[in-house]
Amino acid sequence: MTTITLRPLTVADLPAVIAVEAELFPEPWSWRMYEEELTELPGRHYVCAMVGEHFAGWAGCSVQVGEGHVMTIGTLVPFRRQGVAQALLEDLITAATDLGASRLILEVAASNTAAQALYRKSHFAPVGLRRGYYAHGGDALVMMRALEATP
Ligand SMILES: CC(C)(COP(=O)(O)OP(=O)(O)OC[C@H]1O[C@@H](n2cnc3c(N)ncnc32)[C@H](O)[C@@H]1OP(=O)(O)O)[C@@H](O)C(=O)NCCC(=O)NCCS
Repeated sequence: MTTITLRPLTVADLPAVIAVEAELFPEPWSWRMYEEELTELPGRHYVCAMVGEHFAGWAGCSVQVGEGHVMTIGTLVPFRRQGVAQALLEDLITAATDLGASRLILEVAASNTAAQALYRKSHFAPVGLRRGYYAHGGDALVMMRALEATP
């Protein structure tokens, strides 16, 4: 079984992130976008997953006025289907709850069946479709999960 360790994502991890960003995402974020998310904007939670010494994936969410938003989540190709993204997503769910969100929402490409399966497994359900959401013209499925405050 793969041992996955989670820790906060920091600016020091950005070389590892930027090196694979364009491979993982059709609309890659720049270094500056990540830097802003990690160091300037309020209500953010970013985390990365290590498999041994290897940087295996990362994820982040924002929380504003009680609503959480999954901003990004990705696993490097060699570490896929080992539970990395699921561990990252569960961490976002806990963090968003702790930051006061009552629900967590996300957009996922209508064609991205792997990510949709990941989200369904963590109890997200489709709540809408945004047509032409992506710059390349693809539609986004909107998925949501209610969060319960821990007593
Ligand atoms: C989607 C992605 C994050 C999944 O990462 P992962 O670490 O491989 O996912 P996990 O191993 O944690 O998988 C958890 C569950 O998600 C589902 N899943 C993940 N990848 C899948 C695939 N290729 N096909 C079908 N189901 C898949 C399965 O239910 C899986 O559980 P199982 O392995 O017990 O069947 C990864 O493929 C990725 O980085 N893709 C590119 C970036 C991306 O699309 N991000 C999402 C943007 S909205």
